[in-house]
Amino acid sequence: MAVIEQIIAGNWKMNLTLTQGQGFIDTLLTRLKGKELSRKLLLAPNFTLLSALAQRCAGSGIGLVAQNCAFQAAGAFTGETSVAMLKDVGAEYVLVGHSERRQIFGERDDLLRQKVNAVVSGGLIPIFCVGESLDQRQGGEAFDVVISQLRCGLAELPDSQLIVAYEPVWAIGTGRTATPEDARSMHLHIREFLVSQFSWGERVPILYGGSAKPENAAELLAQPEVNGLLVGGASLNPESFLQIAMA
Ligand code: PGA
Repeated sequence: MAVIEQIIAGNWKMNLTLTQGQGFIDTLLTRLKGKELSRKLLLAPNFTLLSALAQRCAGSGIGLVAQNCAFQAAGAFTGETSVAMLKDVGAEYVLVGHSERRQIFGERDDLLRQKVNAVVSGGLIPIFCVGESLDQRQGGEAFDVVISQLRCGLAELPDSQLIVAYEPVWAIGTGRTATPEDARSMHLHIREFLVSQFSWGERVPILYGGSAKPENAAELLAQPEVNGLLVGGASLNPESFLQIAMA
C-alpha cells in the first residue's frame, strides 16, 4: 500500500473577512513555531482572501484551496472565477462537488466532471467531494451513490494529482459524525474504486469530512483508510483547527 501523508483541510465556507482570515493565519503560524507537524495543512478561504493569505502563508507549507471554480477557461461568464485566476493568486487546490454546491446550487455530475477537468488542465489539484444523504444511507444506497458520484465526476480524468473527500451529507454541520467504522468501510470502497480505475489510484488521499472536531479527530485519523480530514465549523478557530491537526 502506498504511504500517504495525512492532510487536514479547513473549509471556511462563506465565513471570515480578510482581517479575520489574516488574524487566523498569524495565530496559526505563531502556534506552529518550533513544532514538527506530521500532517499537511490546507485552508480553503473565500476567493477574496486568497491573494493576501497566499502571501502570509508563503514558505509555511500551508496550502491554499479555492472553494469553487468555473468549468470554462475564460470568457463571458459574469461572476465566475477561472482556474487560471485562482492559480494566479496562489491557490494550489480547488474543492469540487462539495455537497453545498450540489444541493444549494444544483451542481450536477456532468458539470462537476467539467470542473474537475478544468482544475487538472489548469495545473491545480482537485479535492473532489462525494457523500450520500441520510435517506440514501437509510435506504442502503450509500455505497452505490458515492461510487456513482466518483464514476461520473472522474470519468475523463488523465493521470493527475487528486484528493477525494468523503463527506456524508447527514454529518455536515450537524454535529453528527460518521463512526470510525462507517468512515472506514466507505473509504475502503472508495479506494477499491480508485485502484480499479486508475493505475495511480493507490496514491490518492481520501479525506473524511462531516462534523470533524478536536473530540473525534484522533479516532477518525487512527483508521488507516482515513488519510485526513476536511473540517468545516471547527476550522474557523485556529485553536480547534490546530488541535485537530495535532490530534
Ligand atoms: P463541518 O463541515 O465540519 O462543519 O461538518 C464539513 C464540510 O462541509 O466540509
